[in-house]
Amino acid sequence: MLKTGFAKGRQCQDTVDGVTPAESSRRCICSRRHCLFFILVLGAVLFFYSTDLKEMKPDWNPKWLTSFKKQDVISPSTDSLNSATGSSTFPRSDNITSPKVTQQEAEPPAPVPYKSPGPYLVEYPWEYHFVINEPKTCEQQKPFLVLMVPVAPHNRAHRDVVRSTWGGESLVLDKVVKLFFLLGLQTGEGAEQIQEQLLQESKEHRDLIQSDFLDCYKNLTIKTMVMLEWLDSHCSGASYAMKIDSDMFLNLSNLVKMLLNAPKTNYMTGLVARNAEVLRDKSSKWYVPEELYSNPQYPPYPLGLGYVLSLDLPKKLVEASRHIKPIYIEDVSLGLCLKHLGINPTDPPNGGYFNVFPVPYSRCAYSRLVATTTHEHTDRVRDWKDFIKPGPYC
Ligand SMILES: *[C@@H]1O[C@H](CO)[C@@H](O)[C@H](O)[C@H]1NC(C)=O
Ligand SMILES: *[C@@H]1O[C@H](CO)[C@@H](O)[C@H](O)[C@H]1NC(C)=O
Repeated sequence: MLKTGFAKGRQCQDTVDGVTPAESSRRCICSRRHCLFFILVLGAVLFFYSTDLKEMKPDWNPKWLTSFKKQDVISPSTDSLNSATGSSTFPRSDNITSPKVTQQEAEPPAPVPYKSPGPYLVEYPWEYHFVINEPKTCEQQKPFLVLMVPVAPHNRAHRDVVRSTWGGESLVLDKVVKLFFLLGLQTGEGAEQIQEQLLQESKEHRDLIQSDFLDCYKNLTIKTMVMLEWLDSHCSGASYAMKIDSDMFLNLSNLVKMLLNAPKTNYMTGLVARNAEVLRDKSSKWYVPEELYSNPQYPPYPLGLGYVLSLDLPKKLVEASRHIKPIYIEDVSLGLCLKHLGINPTDPPNGGYFNVFPVPYSRCAYSRLVATTTHEHTDRVRDWKDFIKPGPYC
């Protein structure tokens, strides 16, 4: 910024590096017009330089970032959206009111006019940044499997249930398993306070990854893409990752057993939807207009409640996402990326391993599956305590 500003004062180009403006004006022999021009340029440069310093603040103080986001919000809308916690294929109950952002942050001199992607696409690709990160954990602990759990920022209760059940396991059949929660930014009332609590929670558990997009249901695809970017840059040494919703039950030893015999590359599995109809009813939660996707059916994709992938895939999927339309339905969007790559999702070796309809708890049933959704009101901690008791399962 500084350099280009000075470069415009042609005669004073030697001021660009390491010479103070005072010195430079002594050295330059300026005509009146040139001097006036120089002063104007200098003024502009100083102005932009000082605004720049203000812009850099979020790096030093993430709390500030949330308030910036809040200022940025013009015209809060009353749309109540589900938070970006669940899989896109099943409705969730925790609603948050998400204000609509009508403007993007822009670099000071030439603000780029904000263009909304509309209701069915998301703002991706986009360079999002991590507000809370654990950049070294994978490198240090070398996990075989990384569990990535999307959850809304305010949903501490869900995170604690996961931590005290399947998320608390770190060694399964001699394999290191590592868990992270994925969040965006909380918006609306109490956002600042929640951000403070998150920083505290992160200090305590070191398992939060937060990026600077607004966390809401319509932004789930962003969350997934940011997750893939994160896996690629911070965890590519692990063998597999599983994205799993926070309200699921997971039998980790069955999962690890399955993975020990799984392909090591181009592998994605879960409950694979095949020939899924594109919903054209405008009132449907997953409505997609024809202009956006004209085929009557989607390519095969593993349902978002829980899918597993080999860790060569994040990089490839992120690359592929640049060639598709980023539909707000997270798992469908990944299916489009897979199709672009020519990769077919793999069915699990056992049809009962992944369950979209809640399997009621029993030791026997849960010893035979990998993952299942659970009913909203099940006491997952109580079931877990029962499940890990010694003794026969069936
Ligand atoms: C999704 O996140 C982006 C980036 O933070 C934001 O601009 C957009 O408004 C969010 N979408 C919704 C529906 O809130
Ligand atoms: C999962 O089920 C198997 C039986 O197949 C059992 O041995 C294992 O301990 C289970 N539990 C967990 C916590 O993964």
